[in-house]
Amino acid sequence: SEKDRDERIRAIKSNLGSRLVILGHHYQRDEVIRYADYRGDSLKLAQLAAQEKEAEYIVFCGVHFMAETADMLTSSEQKVILPDLEAGCPMADMAEIDDVEECWNLLTAQYSQEIIPVTYVNSSAEVKAFCGRNGGMTCTSSNAPKIFGKLLGEKKSILFLPDEHLGRNTGLKWGLHDQDILLWTRENPEEVELPEKAPKLILWNGYCTVHQKFKTHHVDEVRRKYPGVTVIVHPECSHAVVERADLSGSTDYIIRQISAAPAGSVWAVGTEINLVHRLAQENPDKTVVSLNENVCLCIMMSRISQPHLLAALENLNQGKVVNQICVDRKITADAISALNRMLELSK
Ligand code: 13P
Ligand code: SF4
Repeated sequence: SEKDRDERIRAIKSNLGSRLVILGHHYQRDEVIRYADYRGDSLKLAQLAAQEKEAEYIVFCGVHFMAETADMLTSSEQKVILPDLEAGCPMADMAEIDDVEECWNLLTAQYSQEIIPVTYVNSSAEVKAFCGRNGGMTCTSSNAPKIFGKLLGEKKSILFLPDEHLGRNTGLKWGLHDQDILLWTRENPEEVELPEKAPKLILWNGYCTVHQKFKTHHVDEVRRKYPGVTVIVHPECSHAVVERADLSGSTDYIIRQISAAPAGSVWAVGTEINLVHRLAQENPDKTVVSLNENVCLCIMMSRISQPHLLAALENLNQGKVVNQICVDRKITADAISALNRMLELSK
C-alpha cells in the first residue's frame, strides 16, 4: 500500500543517510516530491548537482535531460539515477543533433557575422555538446534574459534551440522586432529563406506540448471570471499568451511571486498542473487556479511515481545501481563547457 511504501522509502533514506540525495523538479507529483531533499527549477537543480560533492547516489525525480545534466555536473564516482527511464521531454526530442548540425552548416556558410548557439537545458547532451564546441552555452527559463542580454549587447546573433517560444519571448523582451527573428523549420530546412544580413535571432521550431495548451482566450476568460486576477505564465507559452498575461517566469519565479502575494489575492497560473495544485494547497489564504481548466499535465514528469522511486531506492539499498544515467565522456567534455558558461553567468 501507499503507506507501506512511504515507510519503506523513509527507512531507506535514513539508512543511506548522506550517501543519497533526492532532487525533485517542481512538476513532480506530490507522492514523489515529498521525499525530495531539494526541490527546484531547472537552474537550481543544476546548481545543486554541481555543488553536491558528498552523495554517492543522486536520485533525480524529473526528466531525462535533467538527469543527464546532473550526471555531467557531478564527478565520475557519483551515480545519477532516473527512477523511470521513459521519462523524457518531448521538446528536447525536437532537436536532433544531425538536424542541428545541418542548420549550423547552412548558417555559417551564409553569414560572416558571429553566431552563438544557445540551447535551453531542455535538450540532449549531444546538443549541449554542440553548443559547447561552437562557443555557445546553455540557458534555463530563469537565466535566458540575462544570457540574451549579454549576447545581444555584444552584437552577436543567437541560434536558439529548441524552444521557439522561450526564444521569441526573451528576444522581444530585449527589444528585438519580428523582422530581427528568423524561424528555422526543422522539418524542411531547404524551405527556410535566409535573408541577406544575419538575423539577430534564429529560432528552432520546438515547443512544449504542455505549455502550448494555454491560449489567449483562456486569459480573457479567466479575467472575466475572476476580476482582479493576476495571470502568471511560464515563458514556454506562446508570445501571444505571455503578452496577454501580467507576469512570466520560471517555475521558481512563479512560486516566489505567489508565496509573497497578499492574502486574498487571486492567481491564474499557466504552467504544469502538479505545480498549480501544490501552489493552491500551500497558499490556502489565496485563490490559485489553472489558466486552462482542462488539465495541463506533463505526462513525462508524472511518469515518476512513488512505486518507481521505491524500486530505485530498494536497489540502491542492496548496492545495485539500476536506471543510471551516464553520458558519454567525450560528449560530457564538450557539454560541460556550455553548462559552465551558463553557471558562471548565473552566479
Ligand atoms: P523551469 O523549472 O526551469 O522553469 O522549467 C520548466 C520546464 O518545463 C522543465 O521541463
Ligand atoms: Fe518538457 Fe514541457 Fe514537460 Fe517541461 S513541461 S518536461 S518542457 S514537455
